[in-house]
Amino acid sequence: MSTAPTLHTIDRETCAALDAADPVAPYRDRFFLPEGVVYLDGNSLGALPRATPAHVQRVMVDEWGTGLIRSWNDAGWFAKPVTLGDRIAPLIGAAPGEVVLGDSTSASLFQATVAAARLRPGRRVIVSERSSFPTDLYVLESVQTLLGTGAPLERRLIHDDGPTIDDVLDDEVAVVVLTHVDYRTGRMHDMAEVTRRVQAAGAIMVWDLCHSVGAVPVDLNGVGADLAVGCTYKYLNGGPGSPSFIWAAERHHAASRPALTGWHGHAKPFDFDIDYAPADGIGRFRVGTPQLLSMAALEASLEIWSEVDLAELREKSLRLTELFISLVDARLSRWNVEVVTPRQSAQRGSQVALRVEGGYAVMQALIERGVIGDFRSPDLMRFGFAPLYVSHVDVWDAVAALEDILETGVWRDARFASRGAVT
Ligand SMILES: Cc1ncc(COP(=O)(O)O)c(C=O)c1O
Repeated sequence: MSTAPTLHTIDRETCAALDAADPVAPYRDRFFLPEGVVYLDGNSLGALPRATPAHVQRVMVDEWGTGLIRSWNDAGWFAKPVTLGDRIAPLIGAAPGEVVLGDSTSASLFQATVAAARLRPGRRVIVSERSSFPTDLYVLESVQTLLGTGAPLERRLIHDDGPTIDDVLDDEVAVVVLTHVDYRTGRMHDMAEVTRRVQAAGAIMVWDLCHSVGAVPVDLNGVGADLAVGCTYKYLNGGPGSPSFIWAAERHHAASRPALTGWHGHAKPFDFDIDYAPADGIGRFRVGTPQLLSMAALEASLEIWSEVDLAELREKSLRLTELFISLVDARLSRWNVEVVTPRQSAQRGSQVALRVEGGYAVMQALIERGVIGDFRSPDLMRFGFAPLYVSHVDVWDAVAALEDILETGVWRDARFASRGAVT
């Protein structure tokens, strides 16, 4: 904002003034957020839209309860993975008919990556990144084993400290699978540039958009990418376990042969033929019966997303993360708090990671105070700034709480050291 105050002048009132002038701020009322909570974990599980419970209840009672089996036709259940996919499409620069909702992101990544590798038969290398969310690497191991003839396909991993993408690309690489925004550090790849290099080497580019969709602008067709997957329970607020999506550029549909060939991906599922024939278009990436109740929750949230101006959203996201980083620099340097996330806005998603002594315990102390972020092993505190419902005052309050916890040393209390199954 041109009127942004300098750090020396910023205080809680200034943050309140930024909220008052924020065009995205009214969306906050569309979410249920518990009193007294500053929620900075929407990059892990998004908040509940107020409209969701009634919508899910209506689907359950009217469509399931009353409509019963008729709802597969009457309520459009069968087409839901594709009709909802069309509503995600504008958020990622996709065209109608290019996005389909599926299972977990892990399953969708398997589905998409096998299809991608089969578009490049004869090539024996899969490239990914050491810092990927581990499920991506685990899934790729299965792809390597499944598609390797004789021996598994070779894996090459890039890393911020090298090797770079240029170091690993050659004419043996079939597929490159990268996460656009790093789940730990929030570092964002230059999607256009990386896609260009990968395709120049003749390989297929698959993007994981889990930390991008609803957080940063994504233009898959604009950059000419090949395939992508992403989840809907983070910034899209679809609820725990809401389905992931697969995007495939229309030019690849006819030649794509995904891993799992279930009946919902068949050209004529109700012919009950004993032989598989793929559906036309993105429908061939479908597998079996969709999770319709989860999709109902997502549908309610996508109502909100159909109204959002993505450029305004990005502007706000950058204002929030810049404010957070500036306040951390100004107020927490005494405790050697390190900002791990890139300071250049073009390289940053909508989250900030901090490294500090005792990070896990510090985060538990914060959560006890109602400031909810999370911790990623081995040493990062992670704060997500979902622009639809996080305010500038939230950022101020979070840093103030963090300062107090470090100042008093309360985080050293033994009760903050014990680890739950989920961190
Ligand atoms: C980048 C990334 N990819 C994949 C996943 C795993 O998704 P799922 O549990 O839906 O398979 C996550 C989960 O947080 C993630 O952050």
